[in-house]
Amino acid sequence: MSTSPVLLDVQGLQTAFHTEAGAWLAVDGVDLTVKRGEILGLVGESGSGKSVTGFSLLGLIDPPGEVVSGSVRFNGKELRGLREEQMRALRGDRIAMIFQDPLMTLNPVLKVGEQMAEAIYTHYPRVSRDEIRARCTEALGQVGIPSPASRLDNYPHEFSGGMRQRVAIAIAMLNKPELIIADEPTTALDVTIQAQILFEMQKLCREQNTAMIWITHDLGVVAELADQVAVMYAGRIVEYGSVEHVLANPVHPYTKGLMESMPGAAAPGARLAQIEGMAPTLTSRETGCPFRPRCPRRGDLCAQQAPEVTARGERRYRCHYPLEVQA
Ligand SMILES: Nc1ncnc2c1ncn2[C@@H]1O[C@H](COP(=O)(O)OP(=O)(O)OP(=O)(O)O)[C@@H](O)[C@H]1O
Ligand SMILES: [Mg+2]
Repeated sequence: MSTSPVLLDVQGLQTAFHTEAGAWLAVDGVDLTVKRGEILGLVGESGSGKSVTGFSLLGLIDPPGEVVSGSVRFNGKELRGLREEQMRALRGDRIAMIFQDPLMTLNPVLKVGEQMAEAIYTHYPRVSRDEIRARCTEALGQVGIPSPASRLDNYPHEFSGGMRQRVAIAIAMLNKPELIIADEPTTALDVTIQAQILFEMQKLCREQNTAMIWITHDLGVVAELADQVAVMYAGRIVEYGSVEHVLANPVHPYTKGLMESMPGAAAPGARLAQIEGMAPTLTSRETGCPFRPRCPRRGDLCAQQAPEVTARGERRYRCHYPLEVQA
């Protein structure tokens, strides 16, 4: 296995949906790198392309959608072009996904212990029943489920919403993945439970050196959880850097707007709805910077061409008139 610190390296990812009006890029040139053990927050408003990015990385885009270009290297190996069975061998083993709705992961008619056993057995058919049971019990305990051994015999509906999401997280962690892609897994939960789960996920990732991409619309969550942040707007990453630097000193007017729309800095549960105007829809994208109609700093150039990526130190952004970089 590779020991390079870079676990996931995504370059120029483009994912299109083919519609009657033609191909439309929901993800338009995304570059990301995630190091081992690092947590990346992928943040943006509804429709910005966060989930499509996550699904694209896992090879889970179905027609009329299609990953049309770019490279997704995991442990140095290109995932684009792998056969479905090769991707399936990776998913749930080296790469795991957690969804907003735990019922996307959990089968309502199977006991939790049976589903967990299946998740191990699929990838490791030689593990004994006793060991499987021990690993499942341990995994439920790790995510804070009381009396884990007896809970293995419960069905998903016998858990509360928060506990059910913990079960889905336990399944994701079962085979000690190197990368977890978590798509708003705590958004539907109340704020206290969300905070507990964030804390536990962060701890588990640190202990096991697991990398994670945490998709959210909530910059408060990013501030609490992540090391790096990628701010997404209209299918592109508009600002990217360490959480520390980006949140202390955003250079993209959209990032600044997101921060100002939070009720209190770093408050979990903060929504990002207060930037003037609407996120562009399928029909409203055109030439120039997609954020232009809502941007307080827009100038002549913004109507003429979409900004390319500018790198300054470890910070990257797409803006013709960025705020000053102080760090
Ligand atoms: N199956 C599909 N067919 C056509 N368009 C789609 C499909 N799935 C997603 N899209 C479009 O791609 C864009 C990005 O969607 P995506 O689900 O990635 O947004 P998101 O950032 O995850 O939003 P949210 O915060 O609401 O989950 C949206 O405009 C969406 O309408
Ligand atoms: Mg989404």
